[in-house]
Amino acid sequence: MTKRLEGRVALVFGAGCVSDDWGNGNATAVLYAREGARVICVDRNRRAAERTQDLILGEGGDAIALDADIAVSAAVNEAVARGIETYGRIDILHNNVGILEIGGPEQTDEATWDRVMAVNIKGFYLTCRRVLPIMTAQRGGAIVNISSIASNRWLGASSVTYYASKAAVNHLTQTIAVEYAAKGIRCNAVLPGLMNTPMVIEPYRALYGSFDAMVAARDAMCPTGKMGTPWDVAYASLFLASDEAKYVNGALLPVDGGLSCKSA
Ligand SMILES: NC(=O)c1ccc[n+]([C@@H]2O[C@H](COP(=O)([O-])OP(=O)(O)OC[C@H]3O[C@@H](n4cnc5c(N)ncnc54)[C@H](O)[C@@H]3O)[C@@H](O)[C@H]2O)c1
Repeated sequence: MTKRLEGRVALVFGAGCVSDDWGNGNATAVLYAREGARVICVDRNRRAAERTQDLILGEGGDAIALDADIAVSAAVNEAVARGIETYGRIDILHNNVGILEIGGPEQTDEATWDRVMAVNIKGFYLTCRRVLPIMTAQRGGAIVNISSIASNRWLGASSVTYYASKAAVNHLTQTIAVEYAAKGIRCNAVLPGLMNTPMVIEPYRALYGSFDAMVAARDAMCPTGKMGTPWDVAYASLFLASDEAKYVNGALLPVDGGLSCKSA
C-alpha cells in the first residue's frame, strides 16, 4: 500500500521535545516519516533535532537535523535554504513551536510579552513567508500550524501571552488559507486541548503544587477523564498534511476529546 506522504518533503519547526520523551513535535515528525515523507527536523535545540532525526533514521526513514530559532528571520531563511539544498522541495510546512508563560496582563512584563509573541506568532509568519513562494512555484503544498483550544477560550489559568498569540495563529492560518487557495496551497491549524506532553510540566507544576496534582487536575477537566497524547496531535496533523484533506482549508481542528464543547 502506498504511504500517505510518499515522495513528500516535510519541514518541521520545533521537531524536538523539551525532554527525552514524546512531545507533539517529535511524534509528528516521526509519523510523517513513517508515512513516507523525508523530514527536515528544525529546532532551537540542536540535540533535540538530532534525537528526532535518530528516531527517524532508526526506523529506516530519511531526515536531516538543523538548529534554528523560529523567531529569527535569518535563521529561518538559512534552515529553509539548507532543506531545499538537501531535498530540493518542501511540500509540507509544520509549525509546532510554542512556548507557555503563566500570568495575566498585570503579572506579565513587556519582555515576556515580546518573547512569547516573537516565538508563537512572529515565528509562524517568518516560516510561512519564506516557504509560500517555494510552494507557489511547486504549484501546491500544505501548511499545518499548531495552535491550541486556548486560542478561543479560557482554560483554567491565566496566560495572556499564550492565549493572545494562539488566537493570532488561527487568523494567520485562515488568512493564508484564503489568499493561497487558488495556488493549490492549503493552510490549516490543529487546536490541541489538554495534552500530556513534557512542555506543560514545568509551567503547571508550580501552579498545581506537584506533578501528580497537575495530571489529576488536567485529567479531570477532560470529558474523557484523560488528557490527550502527542500521537493524537500527530495523527490529526498527518490527515491535514495528506491529500485525504485536499478540500480541507482554513480549518481550526480541535483535538481535545470534546473539551471545547463544554461551556468555558
Ligand atoms: N501540551 C499541551 O497541552 C498543548 C496544548 C495545546 C497546544 N500545544 C502546542 O503544542 C506545541 C508544542 O508541543 P510539544 O509537546 O512538541 O512541545 P515541546 O516544547 O516539547 O516541543 C517543542 C520544541 O520546540 C522547540 N523550540 C522552542 N522554542 C523554539 C524556538 N524559538 N525556535 C525553534 N524551536 C523552538 C523546543 O526546543 C522543543 O524541542 C506548541 O505549539 C504548543 O503551544 C500543546
